[in-house]
Amino acid sequence: MLNLGILISGRGSNMESILKSIKAKKIPINPAVVISNNSNAKGLAIAKKLGVNVEVIESKNFKGNRTEYDEKIIEVLKKYGVTPKNGLVCLAGFMRIISPTLVKKYKNKIINIHPALLPAFPGLNSQKQALDYGTKFSGCTVHFVDAGMDTGPIIMQSVVEIKENDTEISLSKKILKEEHRIYPEAIELFARKKIKVSGRKAHIS
Ligand code: GAR
Repeated sequence: MLNLGILISGRGSNMESILKSIKAKKIPINPAVVISNNSNAKGLAIAKKLGVNVEVIESKNFKGNRTEYDEKIIEVLKKYGVTPKNGLVCLAGFMRIISPTLVKKYKNKIINIHPALLPAFPGLNSQKQALDYGTKFSGCTVHFVDAGMDTGPIIMQSVVEIKENDTEISLSKKILKEEHRIYPEAIELFARKKIKVSGRKAHIS
């Protein structure tokens, strides 16, 4: 079975939905470790409660560059058997740009959830970007991580309608509900080896 490493920075609600799907035996993957770059991340307590190993590699005041930080991440992933060959890394609200070193080493083995219909509204505050732009629909995207910002091959998307009275809070809530649904589904497809990447396309069988 593959080993899963989940990287978080805060609340950890996507992490929780993934771990609960694994516990419910919907995803054949071993939840090996949750790593946070922030010791105050609320998700850490949730992961511990669910019996998953947690590690903190504090990024604030980290003495070193992005590559050196990511080398620490790789070290910890390997310690728990999350290797490029036998692992999957999920970014779940991990609010750091990852280095080319990490991306290359784990090519098509790192996936991310983004709260917009990529390629629209990459980067931060995507829900606000959608509202400010005036789109009638937004949603979320699960994608492989490549060297760009939110640009890798798309695995799955879900659409939500933006209503006239939606606020950043109400839209984020609607999108989050869909995130919690599609992220575990995408991981299940990966774990069952149903995703093949060619070029920038992820094909699902
Ligand atoms: C989620 O909405 C996720 O899509 C977003 O951060 C939130 C984390 O919530 N990620 C990004 O914006 C990445 N660019 P969570 O910690 O409760 O899962």
